[in-house]
Amino acid sequence: MPRIIIQNLGNFSIDSADTDRKVIELIHENGIDWMHACGKKGRCTTCKMILVRNSAKLSEMTEREHFYRNQGRLGERERLTCQTRILEGEIVIRVAEINKFPHLHYTE
Ligand code: FES
Repeated sequence: MPRIIIQNLGNFSIDSADTDRKVIELIHENGIDWMHACGKKGRCTTCKMILVRNSAKLSEMTEREHFYRNQGRLGERERLTCQTRILEGEIVIRVAEINKFPHLHYTE
């Protein structure tokens, strides 16, 4: 069963009964605000996640992710949540400093 743990949101944990779902959809369905300035089309990087731990099977990087990686706008441990599907297993992620919302309370 896929599981997403958002470390700097108090280790908020999301379990999904479904496999092969976009990470951002699971986050939003569970009531967490997560930036997505381009409407989840892979045209910005505001939805990126920082992968702290990854024991999951994730979809391959998309052409959009490669584009930003090559531009230096997506780090080695970063993926776009609107492009990445989680198939099974667990990821521990963080919201990037630059993409934090002022109305949410983030933890360490
Ligand atoms: S929401 Fe813009 S790239 Fe994901």
